[in-house]
Amino acid sequence: MNSDWIRCATVLGAGTMGAGIAGELARIGLEVRLYDADATALPRGLAQLAAGQSALVEAGLLSPGEAVAAQSRVQSVECLEAACDGVDLVIEAVTENMAVKEPLLTAVDRLSPAAALIASNTSGLSITRLAAATGRPAQVAGMHFWNPAHLMPLVEVTEGQNTAPATADALLDLARRLGKRPIRVCHDIPGFVGNRLQFAVVREALHLLASGVASAADIDTAMTAGPGLRYGLLGPLATADLAGLDVFLAISQYLFSDLSNASLPPALLADMVAAGDLGAKSGRGFYPYQDDERQRRLARRDRVLLGFLTVLQRETDR
Ligand SMILES: NC(=O)c1ccc[n+]([C@@H]2O[C@H](COP(=O)([O-])OP(=O)(O)OC[C@H]3O[C@@H](n4cnc5c(N)ncnc54)[C@H](O)[C@@H]3O)[C@@H](O)[C@H]2O)c1
Repeated sequence: MNSDWIRCATVLGAGTMGAGIAGELARIGLEVRLYDADATALPRGLAQLAAGQSALVEAGLLSPGEAVAAQSRVQSVECLEAACDGVDLVIEAVTENMAVKEPLLTAVDRLSPAAALIASNTSGLSITRLAAATGRPAQVAGMHFWNPAHLMPLVEVTEGQNTAPATADALLDLARRLGKRPIRVCHDIPGFVGNRLQFAVVREALHLLASGVASAADIDTAMTAGPGLRYGLLGPLATADLAGLDVFLAISQYLFSDLSNASLPPALLADMVAAGDLGAKSGRGFYPYQDDERQRRLARRDRVLLGFLTVLQRETDR
């Protein structure tokens, strides 16, 4: 199923993800409603959306006129009834808590048109369970945008046990229209695909740090200057193909049994959290952060991502 019939969408939750997703949908011409239970979140979300689009304009990926037009298509709404009335698609991006999402989706099911699709941006909660909170599980799927939603190309469309293939097809098509690089996740498993890959790396990085094999900075450099630099272009399986599967088999035979297979996070991480060392937001994590360093690092991340996206776009156009 294509997604041309999706003309009006509601995004629930105007936080980090909801604001970015709303901006993306408006960018391709959808009428978008942005709803949040906390009215003070709405102006913040609109400001974040505008800032994200300004960055796209500065990078030459969006014209100033397109940004103005996109932002005029986003309406903030304080009432759930009005948010759901007559929409074709609802994307839920509220707090990652089943106890918050389930009752909200039950209400959305009651208030939105029978034909509307419902997608959840959950990072890993069960899509099957979220869908069961509605009376239309065939029309519910995961639609997991990555952060920041206006820059990251990956969108994971996850089918719950009762999701109709046509629902996933429509969401995949919509993501392609957004210029994203969506993937279909055929089984509703924790972490989908992207976070499973990411956390496999995090588990090994924590194991290396806790074992004293290398410092935090050196472990990070091993990724950013090594495999991580390639991964933007070549995934792990394409990398194996280019290196030679015989080589990867030989390395896997002696290395797999030595990799961390811990089923719980290491004490190192739990101890840091217990001590209030939460990373950049608390001023200390694996590194110290002073003053506005978190903001500066986020700005640099977005700048480099934009440059990288521009290069990748050129490569794809060739
Ligand atoms: N932040 C990330 O990096 C990231 C990445 C991908 C996916 N996600 C997922 O996206 C979702 C949102 O995450 P976020 O980081 O944007 O969170 P956030 O805390 O920035 O925003 C959540 C918003 O939801 C609102 N909200 C809470 N309960 C609500 C309700 N019942 N009705 C309407 N609004 C409600 C809050 O007021 C808040 O504004 C989560 O499921 C999260 O796991 C987050």
